[in-house]
Amino acid sequence: ALRGAAAPKAQKSSQRSQYHLNPQASYKVAILGAAGGIGQPLALLVKMSPLISTLHIYDIANVKGVAVDLSHCNTPSQVLGFTGSSELPNSLKGVDVVVIPAGVPRKPGMTRDDLFSINASIVKTLVEAVADNCPDAFIHIISNPVNSTLPIAAEVLKQKGVYDPKKLFGVTTLDVVRANTFVAQKKNLKLIDVDVPVVGGHAGITILPLLSKTRPPVSFTDEEVQELTVRIQNAGTEVVEAKEGAGSATLSMAYAAARFVESSLRALDGDADVYECSFVQSDLTELPFFASRVKLGRKGVEAFISSDLQGLTEYEQKALEALKPELKASIEKGIAFAQK
Ligand code: NAI
Repeated sequence: ALRGAAAPKAQKSSQRSQYHLNPQASYKVAILGAAGGIGQPLALLVKMSPLISTLHIYDIANVKGVAVDLSHCNTPSQVLGFTGSSELPNSLKGVDVVVIPAGVPRKPGMTRDDLFSINASIVKTLVEAVADNCPDAFIHIISNPVNSTLPIAAEVLKQKGVYDPKKLFGVTTLDVVRANTFVAQKKNLKLIDVDVPVVGGHAGITILPLLSKTRPPVSFTDEEVQELTVRIQNAGTEVVEAKEGAGSATLSMAYAAARFVESSLRALDGDADVYECSFVQSDLTELPFFASRVKLGRKGVEAFISSDLQGLTEYEQKALEALKPELKASIEKGIAFAQK
């Protein structure tokens, strides 16, 4: 259930042996910000992966109990808790995938950019530690505003001389999960079959679902395209408002992040059929970072699925041009912060 619809073969767990090339596969995953609203359910879902030998969970507080609690689940991985900056380096040693959901979430009326002043420094500090302790790891950035925190992470890694653009990911999986859910509901489709690529970035109009590229092929009226696009773009705000001040999406986000972790582990494990959307360094447009579908392999991003951006509808083409200035500004804000 945690697998991307773009890899049809991999949806059948009975076929795992076909791609599970290394029977001893045993990866180490670290979650930074693991005691939070996303971190806890994410840690639980990741604890269920058969591909993981060790799960490190780190937070500035309240992580010890979470680690003990999780450690009682009789799934293969060992869980270790790390509290506070003095334990941060050890939480990262030997880790293959680092997931970062540390930081503050939105309250009603806030945009993701309103979180910048707090989350930018949190991401900077954490990625510095990643660079020092596990520079070869895949890094998944969840902390918002992703459109700026991902460029911050890239800049920090460059400054440390360990930047590998193929291994740094802004997590936009929740946009895809939402798009798939809403399209399946609207069109009465079987959920498991639906796959909508979502490109651009991860805030407001920078989130661009390419409904014309939905698989299986579906036709939409202009009204449906407008309604679905706006709903997907505002889905985060839908949750923020429903939670009335208690935070933003945590459970659906944990589900989406766990899917992205599982996809990364399958790619590391040699599965040649792993595709996910992610906000990454990219040549697909004139912007230095852009979310699109990518093929994942052992070394990270192996290919960009450029065909998604060809033959767009007029609506999508206009939306793509319209999102570029906002996305560019958010990217530049992140880079400027990291360079100051
Ligand atoms: P939360 O407040 O429930 O949890 C955040 C956790 O981060 C807390 O446990 C806190 O102690 C920890 N933390 C704070 N500073 C830290 C530091 N320096 N090092 C390590 N941990 C630290 O927030 P929630 O709901 O889990 O959201 C986390 C982030 O994820 C927010 O920035 C939110 O905007 C973002 N988010 C991203 C989504 C996406 O699609 N990429 C979707 C939903 C939320």
